[in-house]
Amino acid sequence: MDRIDPALEDIELELFVRALRQRHGYDFGHYAPASLRRRVRQLVQTHGTGTISALTGRLLHEPEFVFTVIEGLSVPVSDMFRDPPVFRALREQVLPLLASWPRINIWQAGCASGQEVYSLAILLEEEGLYERCQIYATDFNPAALRRAQEGIYPARAAQAWSRNYLEAGGRHSLADYYSARYEFIKLDQRLRRNVSFANHNLVTDKVFCEAQLVLCRNVLIYFANPLQDRVLGLFRDSLVRGGFLCLGLRESLEFAPSGADFTALDANLRIYRRNVFTAPDGKA
Ligand SMILES: C[S@@+](CC[C@H](N)C(=O)[O-])C[C@H]1O[C@@H](n2cnc3c(N)ncnc32)[C@H](O)[C@@H]1O
Repeated sequence: MDRIDPALEDIELELFVRALRQRHGYDFGHYAPASLRRRVRQLVQTHGTGTISALTGRLLHEPEFVFTVIEGLSVPVSDMFRDPPVFRALREQVLPLLASWPRINIWQAGCASGQEVYSLAILLEEEGLYERCQIYATDFNPAALRRAQEGIYPARAAQAWSRNYLEAGGRHSLADYYSARYEFIKLDQRLRRNVSFANHNLVTDKVFCEAQLVLCRNVLIYFANPLQDRVLGLFRDSLVRGGFLCLGLRESLEFAPSGADFTALDANLRIYRRNVFTAPDGKA
């Protein structure tokens, strides 16, 4: 994209966001502005439209183009057992406590292409809790959800993922959970038997289940503060008292008003518990 007047680019960006909302129902109005701008510029470059306005034109006039835009704006990158110490803490500190509930609902919000869902399923399987669990894996990017359901990933990632798995306390070999074919691996689809994948937009949709554990990692980082607080409120309302919330390592609820409803189980690893007792101001 040629250098353009920043004030002009602001207007174009505003119109682009408005078109996305009014034409397609996706609201990016409260995303962190700098990273949104970067991604929109990237889309302009990838599609050779020259300007954001031309991108907006395609968004308005080509019905299917919105999915390309959502894929470009949503950053659906992930890894299996990403941040292994977090998965080790889930295994050693959270799952033993979750075991006290007869049925365990888990909401994995922003599941991207599913690597985290399969990691969690393996963890639950190895700790003997899987059969009691229902995992709701949600994202607002339909293409990422399709990839998550297929569970097919480039084989070149497998080595690093195997290391992560072992570092996270894995009891076997990660290779026991996938079959390799040419340059791809396919995760064992039995790991999906208690997983429901669904399209859910954290900006516009509501709570849909009562959960004992909510995992939402590396998603809030793309949101401006008021939206982060709204989404944390959704997680609080979804969680039973004493339920667990796990965020990404660069995310925190310290500065959000909803943070008062949680206590850290491990602040460094961003694992929190919804408070059991109501605070004096009437909040949870
Ligand atoms: C960087 S990925 C995180 C994947 C995984 N949780 C992890 O930590 O490896 C961010 C995901 O958040 C999703 N996302 C962004 N905004 C969302 C929204 N408003 N509602 C639901 N998902 C959203 C994106 O589609 C993307 O798949």
